[in-house]
Amino acid sequence: MAAKAGLKTRYVKEWLCAIACGGLIEVDESGEKFWIAEETKDVLSGPNNEGLVLVHLMMPILGSIYGDISKVFEKNGPLAIEGAEKDRIQNGAKNVEFICQDAKNLNLAWKDKFDLIFIFDACHDQTRPDLCMKEIHRVLKPDGLFAMVEVDSSGNCYVEKTTKGPLAAMLYANSLFHCLPVGANTEDALALGSMWGVERGQNLLKESGFSEVKVEKTLFFPFNVLYTAKK
Ligand SMILES: C[S@@+](CC[C@H](N)C(=O)[O-])C[C@H]1O[C@@H](n2cnc3c(N)ncnc32)[C@H](O)[C@@H]1O
Repeated sequence: MAAKAGLKTRYVKEWLCAIACGGLIEVDESGEKFWIAEETKDVLSGPNNEGLVLVHLMMPILGSIYGDISKVFEKNGPLAIEGAEKDRIQNGAKNVEFICQDAKNLNLAWKDKFDLIFIFDACHDQTRPDLCMKEIHRVLKPDGLFAMVEVDSSGNCYVEKTTKGPLAAMLYANSLFHCLPVGANTEDALALGSMWGVERGQNLLKESGFSEVKVEKTLFFPFNVLYTAKK
């Protein structure tokens, strides 16, 4: 399908997962084979396709929030680290430091340094989460703990559709419009997207040298899981 349309296969796959979970097209149990049901063909291209016109009319309304987001682009617009530093000073916290680094190239002077490293929902956005995990392994103390909150997914869109319903469509759409483009942005990117799946997450950790890899539900974040792994 991607070849016929002249599109990137990885993006087409994530899009198919999103609309299959939303019930617009069908998917088989493998999560890999997609097709359009007869009755849906009529809605898409037949005389009853007014619904689609309405969806297109929604676009400018949804797009209006970009005015707020564009503030971040302004010369003196909000910057994350500056804001965090302001909060830190206001709260009198003396044992906190904010450092901006590429997670796959951490400070070379750091070796066997940290007892605990924690990532909140920021591994799947990386182009090379595998290299980030290897760096974390390097800078942890022997016996140190890595804890990673990530999206709870099976990695199979059929399973996601049948267990999560319309929420699965939203999760795949988030991935399609943000996580996948960000995580596909270099020549060597793995382009995993946020729905990479728990099994893949566990394998990535093991391949990065971690042991005792565990996954459990998170108490306050129903769409996430917590991975823990020992150096
Ligand atoms: C979904 S956001 C999560 C941010 C934050 N943890 C939160 O919950 O609000 C993903 C973050 O990963 C960061 N990121 C992506 N690639 C990175 C890299 N190679 N090194 C460090 N951070 C990276 C992005 O800048 C972004 O802030």
